[in-house]
Amino acid sequence: MDSILVKGNGALNGQILIAGAKNTVLKLMCAALLTDEPLTLTNVPRLADIGTLSDVLESLGCEIAQLSNGRVLALNATELTSHKADYDLVRKLRASFNVLGPMLARAGEAIVSMPGGCAIGARAVDMHLDALERLGATIELKDGYVHATAPNGLKGAEIPLRFASVGATENAMTAACLAKGTTVIKNAAREPDTKALADCLIAMGAQIEGAGTDTITIQGVEKLHGATQAVIPDRIEMGTFMIAPMIAGGSVELLGGRMDLIPSFAQKMEEAGAILEETKHGLKVTNPGNGIKPVNVTTEPFPGFPTDLQAQFMAMMCFADGVSFLNETIFENRFMHAPELLRMGANVEVQGGTATVTGVEKMNGAQVMATDLRASVSLILAGLRAEGETQVNRVYHLDRGYERIEQKLSAVGATIERVQGS
Ligand code: EPZ
Repeated sequence: MDSILVKGNGALNGQILIAGAKNTVLKLMCAALLTDEPLTLTNVPRLADIGTLSDVLESLGCEIAQLSNGRVLALNATELTSHKADYDLVRKLRASFNVLGPMLARAGEAIVSMPGGCAIGARAVDMHLDALERLGATIELKDGYVHATAPNGLKGAEIPLRFASVGATENAMTAACLAKGTTVIKNAAREPDTKALADCLIAMGAQIEGAGTDTITIQGVEKLHGATQAVIPDRIEMGTFMIAPMIAGGSVELLGGRMDLIPSFAQKMEEAGAILEETKHGLKVTNPGNGIKPVNVTTEPFPGFPTDLQAQFMAMMCFADGVSFLNETIFENRFMHAPELLRMGANVEVQGGTATVTGVEKMNGAQVMATDLRASVSLILAGLRAEGETQVNRVYHLDRGYERIEQKLSAVGATIERVQGS
């Protein structure tokens, strides 16, 4: 398994191109199942997760062509040759569960392995299943699979979500596109990824209103057609690289960055002392050299502070001039980066869903282990300032969500390299 070596080496300066959003492109790929016409996606990031989801979609009969060096995906689900998404494939990528809604709507049947939990939590799917039952599906759980059937098609319904679940909103919205009648999803997720999925479905002929708000109304249509859709910039990659110059010093311009994708996060970055400027090509982040102010954060559904940036923000708070409190409300086990940061000399105390971070003068490089996608990148961020060398192992987690991170960071002055694993 590969490792990444990073050494504290002073300020970062330059530009980083922000790739297309992982948590958007995966859903747009699933939407291809809704039509027998081609769906072409552009500004596609080159990430391991895309390969994993491609395997799932191809196992269902969807043809996928990678063009322009992987930046363009042409998906063609003219004919679904299977309605079963296998455990072996789904267990590798939870987002595969988003094939359930479109496949059920298109084919009247879907057999999808339960995704199972992951390092950060149980990751239940009860809201997904409740939503599809309200649309008229029969749901059976057998041998670890969800068997969903709707032989006479789906019928529009009211779907009140107990929590603004991103995945449940997206499975319900895609299924409702081909249901007979009107569907109203209440307490819907407002994430930019969900809004981008709605925009793609509308380009395919769906009738959707209210995406991006907490109430989404879908008028079912007979059929959807093909489309070409660009993937929005990755707000989590952008946030991650906004934190890098705040930890290491310097000024970095994020090409393609957009402030509207990170309203709460941007506010917290400014509270910590970052200077943010919207530029012609994106967003510039400058560390003015006055230290890092301690900032309290509570993760919430969009437009609140994103849980996917909590680990990275903690790495920055480890160097703050004081004490900060980070409350994780979305996942039950998302502080696994804390013990690894402690090994680098951080002062972090976790009590239930709250981490108390007391800033320290310096941290020391160490051998650390990545446990999940965002935890692993927080260790790299801390390594940008820690004295000595930090070796982050198990970087396959990283490759799921960050495209060539060592190249992007070394291009702005970081001392970072990938070491081929044994
Ligand atoms: C999406 O996961 C993202 N993944 C996650 O990003 C992100 O952290 C999360 O949304 C929250 O923003 C993708 O988009 C591929 P949820 P999802 O349904 O859809 C519970 C990353 O690092 N829940 O909003 O699974 C669930 O257990 C990943 O890129 C139920 O209890 O998130 C969790 O505690 C990590 N029952 C909470 O809700 C359900 O039926 C949020 O889940 C559904 C969810």
